[in-house]
Parts: sequence; C-alpha cells; structure tokens
Amino acid sequence: MHIAITGGGGFLGQRVARRLAAEGHLGGRPVSGLTLFDIDRPPVPEAPFPVASIAGDVAELPEAAIPPGTDVVLHLAAVVSAAAEADYELGRRVNLRGTDAVVDACRRLARPPRVVFTSSVASFSASRSEIIGAATRQVPANSYGAQKAAAELILADATRRGFLDAVTLRLPTVCIRPGRPNKAASSFVSSILREPLNGEAAELPVADNFCLWIASPAQATDWLLHACSMDSSAMGLDRSVNPPGLTVTVGEMLAALEAAKPGAATLVRRVAAPQIEAIVATWPARFDPARALSLGFAPHGTLDALVGEFIAGTRAVP
Ligand SMILES: NC(=O)c1ccc[n+]([C@@H]2O[C@H](COP(=O)([O-])OP(=O)(O)OC[C@H]3O[C@@H](n4cnc5c(N)ncnc54)[C@H](O)[C@@H]3O)[C@@H](O)[C@H]2O)c1
Repeated sequence: MHIAITGGGGFLGQRVARRLAAEGHLGGRPVSGLTLFDIDRPPVPEAPFPVASIAGDVAELPEAAIPPGTDVVLHLAAVVSAAAEADYELGRRVNLRGTDAVVDACRRLARPPRVVFTSSVASFSASRSEIIGAATRQVPANSYGAQKAAAELILADATRRGFLDAVTLRLPTVCIRPGRPNKAASSFVSSILREPLNGEAAELPVADNFCLWIASPAQATDWLLHACSMDSSAMGLDRSVNPPGLTVTVGEMLAALEAAKPGAATLVRRVAAPQIEAIVATWPARFDPARALSLGFAPHGTLDALVGEFIAGTRAVP
C-alpha cells in the first residue's frame, strides 16, 4: 500500500514516517511506498520501500504529493494554534484551503483512500469541568479550532459522497514534544517538563490547578497508525473521534517532573502571558473515551510513563 503524508516534515509526520519505515507494514499489509510532503523537503527515513520527499504549499497541492495509487493519506499539514490566531489569512489558507486541496486530490484517485486528519482539542470550548462526549457540539473559541472543525465537516461530507474514507482524530496536546518551543499556544505544556529535564528554565503561563488533556508522542503516533487501518464502518456519518487522552493538572505534571528528577520543578517560573492563557483557558480537559475505545483506540498510559518515555529518549522505534 502507498501512503502519503502532508506535513510529513513536521513533528508527528516524521514520527509516523519513521514508524512505517521501521515496521514496513500497516495494519498487516506491506507498505510499498511513502510520499512525504511539506513546505521544505522532509527528511527521508531509511526504509525498506521507496520514499519520495516533496516540497510545496498544501493549498496549491502538486499531484505528486498524493500520487495515483495512494491508499492512505495522513493530512497533518497545518498552521498551528497561536500562529493561526496571529495570522488569520495564513491559517485559513493552509488549514481550510489545504484540506480542500486534499479532498480534490483524493477525488482524482481511482480508489477512495483512507484519509486520516488531525483535528484538535482546540475545536471545542467548554468550562474546565465539562466532560466532552462523542456528540458534544464543537464551539471553537479561536480561528485554528474553527478551521479544524470546518475541515472535519468537509471531510465527513467527502466521505458520505464516496470521494474518500476519513477518520479524524481530535488530538489532545501532545507532550513531551522534543526540540524547542513552537508557535502552538500549548507550547508551554511540553516546555515545563522538557526544559527542566534538560536542566533549563521554563515559563508557566497558567495556574498549578489548570487542567489539561494531553497525550504522549508515542501514544499519538499509535492512534494515528490505528486510524490508518481500522475498520471505519462503525463510524457512520460521524467521522471524528476524541481519542482516550490523559487528563492532568499542571501541578500533577510538576509532581511527575519532580519524581523523575528531584529539584527540576524549581526551574519552572510562573509568568503572566494573557494572550496564551486566553486561548488555552477555553480548551476542555475532560473527555468521555467510550466511543474511541469501542473503535479500538488504545487507552493512554500513566503520566509517569509519559515522562519516562521522554527520558528514555522516547521508544527505540518512535
Ligand atoms: N502536536 C500537538 O500537540 C497537536 C495537537 C492537536 C492537533 N495537532 C495537529 O496535528 C498535526 C501535526 O501536528 P505537529 O505537532 O506535527 O505540527 P508541526 O507544526 O510539527 O507539523 C505541521 C507541518 O505542516 C507543515 N505546513 C504548514 N503549512 C504548510 C503549507 N502551506 N504547505 C505544506 N505544509 C505546511 C509545517 O511545515 C509542519 O512541518 C497538525 O495538523 C496539528 O494541527 C497537533
């Protein structure tokens, strides 16, 4: 089977690519080829199958990005939350028109491919205590969330029309993200663990009792791969899933940090960042995982395991 990844040079795109390269199969079927597409040519993992690396703009998607014969598209290219809020035109073009372009590319294929799309916790707004169920209405409180929710509907309709077979994962905040802070409003969620574990200071823009919905990079990658090959027939018209993420407070995260590396939590400095707080304060943190579990998405491990995964340099195979 041939797999194409938009945003293939990004954090999750690269992790999925490396997993496919290491395993050589997906859902029990051998992978025959992989196409990675991003603004800059994505790094190519060593793989037992050909890997194409293509640069371009997802809103002007070249045909080679989703070539004839593609069976699975992971549509991960996006302008992330704070960047989409700061630049309305850019977010709308990439997050909305980019999704339109993926739908059009899929319509040109002989067989409708599985399309795995990454929506976000940011497509909801709710009180901190509300439990989001499978049927909770999305009322986004930022442009990124609105663009993701709109893209979900476009993909669900394209599925109904038989152009493609979409499975959308509304991902929690993925942490601990390696590297440096990015332009996501949730960037601090990784920073407050990653920087102290690396012996560096980090800034915390929310209170210690602030509740978050998170997932480890390995768990998010597992869910994405499951979404690529699962039987989607039980989903009906609703092609979106809230995966079984982990609900934690910042205080619990700092306690897990302290347990893993005593003294590290003292490197976390409380700061005022009203713009960030205004975005993340609207994101719900409690979700009912029943539908995701019934669709075969694995439950999340513990917070200590999430910290341990980062310390161990993540899993041997990402
Ligand atoms: N990581 C998280 O915590 C998280 C949470 C919820 C949802 N998501 C979603 O998951 C997906 C992957 O997230 P990630 O963490 O890997 O993000 P990322 O920023 O690392 O990757 C996104 C990629 O999209 C590419 N991109 C942006 N504009 C583009 C354009 N015009 N044309 C082509 N490529 C373009 C970027 O260059 C980047 O490599 C995104 O859709 C994101 O919105 C991520």
